[in-house]
Amino acid sequence: MPNLQHFKSRRKEFLSAIDTPVLLMAGGWISRNYPANWSPFRADSTFLFFFAHPEPNAAALFDPKDGSVTLFLDARTPEDALWHGPVPSFADMKKAHGVTAVADRAQLAKEVAKKLGKRKLRTIAIADPRASAEAAAITGEPLDFYKSANVGDRDLLLAIAKLRNHRAPDEVAEMRIAASVTREAHTVAMARTRAGIYEQELVGHVEGTFARNGCVPAYGTILSVRGEVLHNHAHDNMLLETDLVLLDAGAERASGYCADVTRTWPVGGRFSPEARDVYDIVLAAEKAAIEAVKPGARYRDIHTLACRVITDGLVQIGVMKGSTDALVESGAHALFFPHGVGHLIGLDVHDMEAFGDLISYAPGRTRSPQFGTGYLRLDLDMQPGMCCTIEPGIYFVPAILRDPKFKKQFKGQVNFAKAEQFLTMNSLRGFGGIRIEDDVLCTDGGHDVLTAAVPKERVAVEALVGSAGA
Ligand code: GLY
Ligand code: MN
Ligand code: MN
Repeated sequence: MPNLQHFKSRRKEFLSAIDTPVLLMAGGWISRNYPANWSPFRADSTFLFFFAHPEPNAAALFDPKDGSVTLFLDARTPEDALWHGPVPSFADMKKAHGVTAVADRAQLAKEVAKKLGKRKLRTIAIADPRASAEAAAITGEPLDFYKSANVGDRDLLLAIAKLRNHRAPDEVAEMRIAASVTREAHTVAMARTRAGIYEQELVGHVEGTFARNGCVPAYGTILSVRGEVLHNHAHDNMLLETDLVLLDAGAERASGYCADVTRTWPVGGRFSPEARDVYDIVLAAEKAAIEAVKPGARYRDIHTLACRVITDGLVQIGVMKGSTDALVESGAHALFFPHGVGHLIGLDVHDMEAFGDLISYAPGRTRSPQFGTGYLRLDLDMQPGMCCTIEPGIYFVPAILRDPKFKKQFKGQVNFAKAEQFLTMNSLRGFGGIRIEDDVLCTDGGHDVLTAAVPKERVAVEALVGSAGA
């Protein structure tokens, strides 16, 4: 967990970046069925950026006029001690967080109004709908967490993003620990793989590894022999000897910092000749894209580089035909690589995605209208301290490769008969998909792959698969 000095200096930087008071909400418990049965509490990421271990329901008022930070917490009651054990007093919390004052959460609206006078107050929408509605009522803003245009005031979002997008050493240290736990989870899953078990057994090993290390899944674990279904959260297939397992899973620390890693391996322990070819193309694309991460590099160019390596490879194995330039320009590669090469990562696995393209696309840059490239989530110039994923993949998706519209549009560029062979191999189950994903910190000198210890060389992966025995 970053130390108190880290949080204090982040709050100080924020106070000097804003010109009106700002109210931030941590969010509270969210019921999963009846009111008293709660989902695990997870504070809003911007709140986590400024405070260690926030309490449910916490709120904070940042006032640039006097440089104060007031933390609002629920009043302590005798029932707290009964149900939750001893709760630190407001005085303890003032010291623990190093804030100007701690006040009663029940008085939030009144206290904020008192301090504000006639000044404007701003806030941001968060995932907890009740906290968002309360904050919106206090500031009078038309907030909507599910519409990026209404997540908050533009300048406020940009000020927050500027800070959150530059990872301090304490944050990088947290991400390295998340990466290390994620490495353990992926290698355990590889080692426990064998034909005849169900996907969910491996999910148990992955998420059990997270839990044993005090972490939670940073997002819904994707573990599937149907890797071509990009966000496949079903885990009910039995593993066949000839299947490929795609695992996309990352640990999240109590601090909120996380990892996002994908690996793909053969159930039987040896890649088939076709899988070996495709794996080598994806790995080459991943390595080339990682190599390109350095200060000043435009993320869209990194994406295009990955597209080019994938296209070259698919031409070589006879799935595509023509010149790389023409194929990438027409978007033909997206029939096999239909998503962007990655996204920001930090406290959110897609960091600050709720803030929209305002913060992930540089001014003047907009989403491509082309299929595939339009899903690129990031188009900034990389700067030291920024952290992104690099995650190319090749997928054989029946709905894409048998789509009459695409078959007509890319008739001369894609060998659909060859693609059909991939769709029907593996006893008609199809090839599936291969993705390889790492988390990459941009540094002064280039980059640092935080997840480099998760095995990805083909021989290393093959050696691990099934090594735990029956
Ligand atoms: N885990 C989702 C993604 O890779 O973006
Ligand atoms: Mn990702
Ligand atoms: Mn992922």
